[in-house]
Amino acid sequence: MKEAAPRTIRLAEYTPPSHLVEGVELQFTLAPRTTRVRSAIRFRPNPARPDAVAGTADLRLDGEALTLIRAAIDGTVLAAAPDATGLTIPAAALPAGPFLFEAEVEIAPETNTALEGLYMSKGMYCTQCEAEGFRKITFYPDRPDVMAPFKVRIESDLPVLLSNGDAVGQGPGWAEWHDPWPKPAYLFALVAGDLVAHSDRFTTRSGREVALNIWVRRGDEDRCAYAMDALKRSMKWDEDTYGREYDLDVFNIVAVDDFNMGAMENKGLNIFNSKYVLASPETATDDDFARIEAIIAHEYFHNWTGNRITCRDWFQLCLKEGLTVFRDQSFSGDMRSHAVKRIEDVLTLRARQFREDAGPLAHPVRPASYQEINNFYTATVYEKGAEVIGMLKRLVGDEAYRRALDLYFERHDGEAATIEDWLKVFEDATGRDLTQFKRWYTDAGTPHLRVTDDYRDGTYVLHLEQQTLPTPGQPEKPPRVIPVAVGLLNPNGDEVLPTRVLEMTEARQSFSFEGLSARPVPSILRGFSAPVIVERETSAEERAFLLAHDTDPFSRWEAGRGLAKEVLVRMVTEGADPAPGFLEGLGAILRDDSLDPAFRALTLRLPSEDDMAQTLHAAGHVPDPTRIHVRREALIEAIARHLAGALGATYSAMSVPGPYTPDAGAAGKRALRGAALAYLTRIDGGAAAKVQYGVADNMTEALQALSALLDIGQGAAELASFEARWRDDALVMDKWFTLQVLHAAPDDCAANARALTERSDFDWKNPNRFRSVIGAIAANAAGFHHPSGDSYRFLADWLIRLDPLNPQTAARLSAAFDSWARYDADRQGLIRDQLARIAATPGLSRDLSEMISRMRG
Ligand code: PHE
Ligand code: ZN
Repeated sequence: MKEAAPRTIRLAEYTPPSHLVEGVELQFTLAPRTTRVRSAIRFRPNPARPDAVAGTADLRLDGEALTLIRAAIDGTVLAAAPDATGLTIPAAALPAGPFLFEAEVEIAPETNTALEGLYMSKGMYCTQCEAEGFRKITFYPDRPDVMAPFKVRIESDLPVLLSNGDAVGQGPGWAEWHDPWPKPAYLFALVAGDLVAHSDRFTTRSGREVALNIWVRRGDEDRCAYAMDALKRSMKWDEDTYGREYDLDVFNIVAVDDFNMGAMENKGLNIFNSKYVLASPETATDDDFARIEAIIAHEYFHNWTGNRITCRDWFQLCLKEGLTVFRDQSFSGDMRSHAVKRIEDVLTLRARQFREDAGPLAHPVRPASYQEINNFYTATVYEKGAEVIGMLKRLVGDEAYRRALDLYFERHDGEAATIEDWLKVFEDATGRDLTQFKRWYTDAGTPHLRVTDDYRDGTYVLHLEQQTLPTPGQPEKPPRVIPVAVGLLNPNGDEVLPTRVLEMTEARQSFSFEGLSARPVPSILRGFSAPVIVERETSAEERAFLLAHDTDPFSRWEAGRGLAKEVLVRMVTEGADPAPGFLEGLGAILRDDSLDPAFRALTLRLPSEDDMAQTLHAAGHVPDPTRIHVRREALIEAIARHLAGALGATYSAMSVPGPYTPDAGAAGKRALRGAALAYLTRIDGGAAAKVQYGVADNMTEALQALSALLDIGQGAAELASFEARWRDDALVMDKWFTLQVLHAAPDDCAANARALTERSDFDWKNPNRFRSVIGAIAANAAGFHHPSGDSYRFLADWLIRLDPLNPQTAARLSAAFDSWARYDADRQGLIRDQLARIAATPGLSRDLSEMISRMRG
């Protein structure tokens, strides 16, 4: 059989829909194998399509895996038969003006393992329609630029029946919902199950009373309080910060156990992976609490940035995602600490987005083509998309940013917009020309910023040079506008120039600072003012100086980071010993009680092994993951020995008395205490960690202790007691699975992972459980890149197995192979063999085959 050529969808080929939808009515009669969906859709020709107005345009409806029972137009039954991807109604069969299309289809949610469309999770019905899942529910123009109000009737014996909008009626066995706000089909949602609610209320600033419900399975209702609190804070924050109010009488959140992603912003009915809703001190870590807060906020913020204003087409995905990530990051910063949040966000950006941008999967924030849109929910679209908005805000200023956003909401409310529309509001609000800025959306790759300097006669000059390496399909990289925030410090540590944003627009540019009495120490890219890689020859002394004196907390942390990387690079490449100056510098930070504990914890955290591989590769070395692991472990031990006294003192000082609270202050202390414990465990044989595990009354401290023990090859008894206590709690057990892979020694990693997958509770069709092992192996750098190639084979085996059932999750996890070109010829060969083996698998999904072919190049 000949494989069909892969379809490629291109931005340049966008055409408006032939017909618009004035209103939709849906009726669901739920049954696991035989759900009936009846639809009544009022269409009218799109005035922007002369052919449709003239009556010569066919109507194309998307539809996949649907059994068509009956379709009619204005009451006349249609003869048309659907093909594999939809139904075409020829122009000749369409009335001249508006008309009513009706259909009845049958679907089988119980056999839907892809978790896209209508599916079942532990007896509960739920939907996931972004990006193109609605077409698995009924025939419809499944594209975001077709927006309509929805009326939904659900018939089922299950007690809780939910859809978008406000409840307009219910009785035994049925419920009706009406969403008055026009929306695209990807925001449709339906939930039916035996659920219980954790409920509360919120009064908007104009006095609207909103009922808030978090729906969960019976038994989970006592783990919803934190998510509810985060929701109310998000609602208030969006009013205060962006002037955006909620617009329905009810806001529902549902937690489901089987979910491909984190959560989904369906209008008035957000659906969450239960992992990002449910939390109690005993079951969730501080990081889990912070993530829940951020994701609750993110989905809520989509109500305006995504739902009221949506995307014209999927190429514009960053319009809603970049902006909404930017908004949730600002929110978390306001709730916690901006400095700490910024450092954490940069760590994630570098680990995920810089890696993506440097490899075969690199793509622009706004891609120009795709085969499968599910493959573009990436760190580039989300996290770099957010960085781009941060740069725009920095360039125009806070006040102009707010004016531009007001104009955006005013101008585009109820519309499906584009990046051009977004930039135009900034141009109109500020009078700025954003032509060059737009390259951040259209050009892939991370710019390298080379920095050199001169000082003469009181004048200091910074010379900046930008260069972006070619990325797939984009050989030329014209210069971009880069906001470079700099400050200057005097040799005595005083700041002589407070932060100023240099606007770089050329490939090379110099900036002078006059009237300086001594050569200053520059602090460059403060606050990480642009997503670029700074290259500057600098001395360890200067980094240590900035680590001690910089007034910008990000740059201060960055200086420590630079030192740590330098030390590790020398340890790996030259076999050097850890530099004593570095150890002293860390000690000073550790002991500095004027610094936020959370900040100190971040400074004590060494660059990850993957980060070091990326760094070494960028510096022209061929990274050896095994050696990186060994040398990094040696550095951890050297730090532990050198700072033993200070670590012990910090460990005691940071103990948090009283009952657990998830606030940033307490979490920061626990983070620093946990960092100290991880080091101490290297020299006390695990004594402190065993004690901490035994007395821990919260998951944060229990996991810190367990991880530290596993890192020194101990922890068997603790793992067993953890399992005995939590065996019936899937979310907690996911952590248990992950730990044993993530903290495995390189030689044990693949074997541990394999053994875990042989357990009866390895429910691999559940994405969280699948990721807990298969995702974890890719996160254990030395284990994944073991020279035997075992882990590569293991990952490939599981991707091949999952793909026919759940292509979206298989494709996401396949990205672990994207860094192959960094490594030596043997490892490259081993990875490429696995990529070839996956590619040769018959019937591969579009999702996975696109990923594999991009990685093979
Ligand atoms: N739109 C969701 C978010 O960012 C993510 C998502 C995409 C969820 C696709 C499911 C499927 O909040
Ligand atoms: Zn989002």
